[in-house]
Amino acid sequence: MEKRANTFSHCKFEVPEIIFGRGLLAQVGSCAKRLGGKRIFLVSDRGLFEAGWVDQVMRSLLEEGLSFVYYDQVTCNPRDFEVEDGAREYIRQRADVIVGLGGGSAMDAAKGIAILVANGGRIRDYEGCDKIHRPIPPLVLCPTTCGTGSDVSQFAIINDTVERRKFTIMSRCVAPDISLSDPDTLETLPDEHVCSTATDALSHAVEAYFSVAASSLTDVNALKALNCIAKSLVPAVKERRPEDLENLARASLHAGMAFSNSLLGIVHALAHPLGGLYDTNHGSVNAALLPVVLRYDLPVVREKLPELAGALGFQVARDASGAKERAQDSIESLLDASGATRSLKSLGVNREDFPELARRATKDICLVTSPREADEEDLVAILEKAY
Ligand SMILES: [Fe+2]
Repeated sequence: MEKRANTFSHCKFEVPEIIFGRGLLAQVGSCAKRLGGKRIFLVSDRGLFEAGWVDQVMRSLLEEGLSFVYYDQVTCNPRDFEVEDGAREYIRQRADVIVGLGGGSAMDAAKGIAILVANGGRIRDYEGCDKIHRPIPPLVLCPTTCGTGSDVSQFAIINDTVERRKFTIMSRCVAPDISLSDPDTLETLPDEHVCSTATDALSHAVEAYFSVAASSLTDVNALKALNCIAKSLVPAVKERRPEDLENLARASLHAGMAFSNSLLGIVHALAHPLGGLYDTNHGSVNAALLPVVLRYDLPVVREKLPELAGALGFQVARDASGAKERAQDSIESLLDASGATRSLKSLGVNREDFPELARRATKDICLVTSPREADEEDLVAILEKAY
C-alpha cells in the first residue's frame, strides 16, 4: 500500500486577522476604514441582497463615511469573465478596498478581482502555486455559509468557462487582511445549503487532518471543526437553532485554517474537475466522495484515527481497536442523518466521463498532499464507488 510520509517537517501557519461573532457584520465599515479605504468595492450576490445582508454592509460603510460600488455579477462557481469584468469595474471606479460578502463564489470572485487589479492579465494566468507577484488591494471577506473557508484560505477556485474546468490559485497573497464571520447571516441560508456547505467543511477538516502536510497547528483546528460538526450538523439542518448554526460557522473557520495550511486530498482533487465539467454544487459532490475516499485512505492513517474518533464523540480503546470502524461509521451516519447527497449519479454525473475526470484530478494540486497515492485507475475506482 502506497502510504506517503509526512515530508513537511517544518510548518508555517498563516491566518488573517479574525473577527467572529453574532451581530458583528455591522463592523465591516470600520474594518474597511482601518485598512485605508475610502471607496469600497463590495462583491456579493443577489440572494444576499434579497436577504438584507448586503444592505446591512452598505449601511455600515456609509456610517463610516465611506463610499462604495456594488458588484453582484457573480454566480455559483465564479466564472473567469465575471472576475475579469469585476476587475475592470474596480479600476474604472477607482476603488481602494475590496469587501467580499457571501459563500465561496463571492469570496473567490473578490480574490480574483483583487489579483487582477494589482497584477493585470487574465485570471487563468495565475493558476497554480505562487504566480502572483504584486500585493493585492486590502481585502475583507465575510462568509455567509457553513463551509467554504475561503475567508481564511490561501486559495481561490475559479471556473475556466472555455475549457469547462475549475482551476486553483494558491498564494499567500490571496489570504485576506480580515476574515469577519457573523453567524447571524446563516439564519437566512436555505436548508440544503446549510447541509452542503457544512459537508464541505467536514471534507476540509478530514482531508486537512490526513494530509501529508498536516502539523500540530492544523490538526488542532481540524479536530475542533470535526467536533463542532459532529455536535451541530444534524440539529442545525433539522431545527436551525442559532447556537448550532454558530457552531457550524465556527467549524467552517477552523476547517478553513486547517486546510489553508495543510492542503487537502483526493476528495477535492476530484471535486474540482467534477465542478468544472458539471457546474454542480461543491459541497454535495464532496459528500458523495468523502466516505469512499475515507475508506481508501483509512489503511494508511491508522495512527491518527483515535483522535479523529474522539473528536467525533467516541471513546476509543488505547490500542485504537475499533477506531477505523468508528470513524467511518460516524461520518457516514452524520451524512445520512443530515440528508446529504450520497451518490454522484443523483448529481447528474455521467460515468463515461470518469476517465477524463480522473485524468484531470491527477493534475490537481490537492492530490499532492493525499496520504495515499492514487493513479488514474484508482481514481476511476473511487468515482465508481461514489456513483
Ligand atoms: Fe471545499
